[in-house]
Amino acid sequence: MSFRLQPAPVARPNRCQLFGPGSNTKLFAKMAASAADVINLDLEDSVAPDDKPQARANIIQAIGDIDWGNKTLSVRINGLDTPYWYRDVVDLLEKSGDRLDQIMIPKVGCASDVYAVDALVTAIETAMGRTRKISFEVIIESAAGLAHVEEIAASSPRLQAMSLGAADFAASMGMQTTGIGGTQENYYMLHGDSRHYSDPWHWAQTAIVAACRTHGVLPVDGPFGDFSDDDGYRAQARRSATLGMVGKWAIHPKQIALANEVFTPSDAAVTEAREILAAMAEATKNGSGATVYKGRLVDIASIKQAEVIVKQAELFATP
Ligand code: COA
Ligand code: MG
Repeated sequence: MSFRLQPAPVARPNRCQLFGPGSNTKLFAKMAASAADVINLDLEDSVAPDDKPQARANIIQAIGDIDWGNKTLSVRINGLDTPYWYRDVVDLLEKSGDRLDQIMIPKVGCASDVYAVDALVTAIETAMGRTRKISFEVIIESAAGLAHVEEIAASSPRLQAMSLGAADFAASMGMQTTGIGGTQENYYMLHGDSRHYSDPWHWAQTAIVAACRTHGVLPVDGPFGDFSDDDGYRAQARRSATLGMVGKWAIHPKQIALANEVFTPSDAAVTEAREILAAMAEATKNGSGATVYKGRLVDIASIKQAEVIVKQAELFATP
């Protein structure tokens, strides 16, 4: 490993990000009362062009009026390729109170996209005397976004999280699918007569995790469109968690419990991690860098693996 230490991401729960259109005010109180760690009020693709001004006004009102508890409150602004995004930022920062935590920037293609929003946010924060700094999250959902993923992860000290947006990503890559996340019908290998389905999102996810971990940003899996398919959601989320992602979006309330279940380490996993730490503490006391736990090798690297799980459990146990 490089002598530079890998920076730790922000220590806050991000197991589930629940989305709702800014044009659908009926959902806001339900979102606030949900078990999601992060709320994403949307101004982008779930809001029709003619509804953008009203959706902005709805969100600004709701930020102040609704009790969002200790959730991270984020608003997804429109992309930099639209005429809407600057007004989103200006109105949100000038007209909403201090409760807004985060801005989500969609369709980021290079670090300069984040720089542009940062410059505008910084100027408005200073002009308005806002003392709580807005943090950023971005969506990687284009070929350019993935090609420049590392510079994007390093783009701003405001950046806390990065999600993979499967639908726009698939379109930008020219992928032959209309599915949003999950296994795809034609992505398989043949072994004899049997089909083995593979994961078309694997490379993008792993590239995002590596860029995020290098720069202290939380890697998050995006939407799973078929909200009738609990098992499909769970399988996708389990793959993401195994690859190092910390959470997943919910585009329907049904998906919140599924995300929380997968991204909260199980009691069994936490017990095992603590046992590995205890076994290694004992080995170290005896002057050894490796030992045997349940018939398998554990060594100094196992301490770091076990600590990932224990630290997650401690984070979620904090009220
Ligand atoms: N947040 C909170 N509550 C929600 C919700 C959400 N995103 N979506 C639906 N609900 C509520 C409904 O209001 C309904 O509540 P009720 O039982 O009190 O009547 C309940 O959950 C069941 O909803 P259901 O009838 O199954 O769904 P729907 O047809 O009303 O809405 C969607 C389906 C997909 C249109 C809706 O879930 C939605 O807008 N999701 C978010 C889309 C989005 O933000 N996309 C952008 C990111 S990809
Ligand atoms: Mg998108």
